[in-house]
Amino acid sequence: MHEFRYRENQLFCESVGISEIVSKYKTPLYIYSKGTLIDHYQKLKKAFRRINPIILYSMKANSNLALCKILSKQGAGFDIVSGGELYKALKIGADPEKIVYAGVGKTEEEIESCIRNNILIFNVESLSELRLIDRIAGRLERIQRVAIRINPKIRPRTHRYILTSGTENKFGIDIETAEKIFLHRDEYRNLNLAGVHIHIGSQIIESWPFVRAIKKVVSFIKDLSLRGIEIKWFNIGGGLGIIYSKETPQTADEYAREVLPLVKGLNLKVILEPGRFIVGNAGILVTKILYIKETLNKNFLVVDAGMNDFIRPSLYGAYHSILPVISRPYSPKKKIKRFDVVGPVCESGDFFGLNRRFIEPKEGDLLAIMGAGAYGFSMSSNYNARPRPAEVLVDERRASLIRRRESYQDLIRNEL
Ligand code: LLP
Repeated sequence: MHEFRYRENQLFCESVGISEIVSKYKTPLYIYSKGTLIDHYQKLKKAFRRINPIILYSMKANSNLALCKILSKQGAGFDIVSGGELYKALKIGADPEKIVYAGVGKTEEEIESCIRNNILIFNVESLSELRLIDRIAGRLERIQRVAIRINPKIRPRTHRYILTSGTENKFGIDIETAEKIFLHRDEYRNLNLAGVHIHIGSQIIESWPFVRAIKKVVSFIKDLSLRGIEIKWFNIGGGLGIIYSKETPQTADEYAREVLPLVKGLNLKVILEPGRFIVGNAGILVTKILYIKETLNKNFLVVDAGMNDFIRPSLYGAYHSILPVISRPYSPKKKIKRFDVVGPVCESGDFFGLNRRFIEPKEGDLLAIMGAGAYGFSMSSNYNARPRPAEVLVDERRASLIRRRESYQDLIRNEL
């Protein structure tokens, strides 16, 4: 469910017409619905209320400060992957006790700054990293909490670029090595090794991969407990899939119904770190048709957003539905034609949708690329020296600018 709906024939975000927002802020433009953002966070929170987990929003999905602040006020913490995300989380006043840090390539500077800022847990991805965190914590005279990120080698069905579990990818540590680490935990004198973490991939629409991975790790946790090693935090990761077209992903309630029995009776704190589930359907990218180009073989709608603004279709072949902001009612007299919706960037992979049906589109019409809230703006770039789009947040009847459109000066700001 989300708050982008037609009223009569115009697409609205909550109670504001998209055309009205665009007349003020131009295109390409990201528009977010505050109501949808909060609703998705609350759905997960309610589904898991029996165990009162720590819910950490995965900032990489969309780290706009305004959105993070809303989630922080709702009680969310943050899953971060860089010093930059730590900086942004602290900037909005996030509680460091609700920040965890995952990623295979943490630098010494990033580790030090996280320790100094008292974050909750590092999710450790290799032995070398474990030793480095231990050394830095020692130097800072701290005892740092860490979790071992386990690669449970379960392979969910999703795009291979966003699969993070399995024998041939860089994430996590295999269970056998993790066991050795826990058995030799006294070697790491500056670490409190009391957590395990998994994150098996993203846009996973079925429950079985989560269930299998969690079962595997729960049995590992129980084994450790028999050997006197108590695990205090179990981070089950993010990865919940959302609806982009006709998928029927598990709902928050269905997910909780599967997961809760697995962690029942364990004396530990469960952590969730969803990104896409919270923000994915809370945002759209609005773009304008610049040209309608009809060729012998194909018809194109050339729009003013490019793959630099939104890269998911180009990078993963991801499907996003594309809706006209003003819809033209169908009548048998009107022709439905198929078009590729493409951007202005100099790459043939610069497209948002292929072979899509439109009723008599016109140059100047606005199109909404749906489900663009997660991994949209956060993956944008300045490729082709294109300033990045503005971002607007809608709260019922009010639309506010939450990020200015970049200017040409922004493009050269750091060049010498
Ligand atoms: N936790 C960790 C350790 C992660 O690496 C990720 C995402 C998440 C949580 C959040 O996953 P989510 O709930 O959003 O699925 N750019 C890709 C997705 C990359 C996901 C990277 N890691 C896309 O546009 O599909």
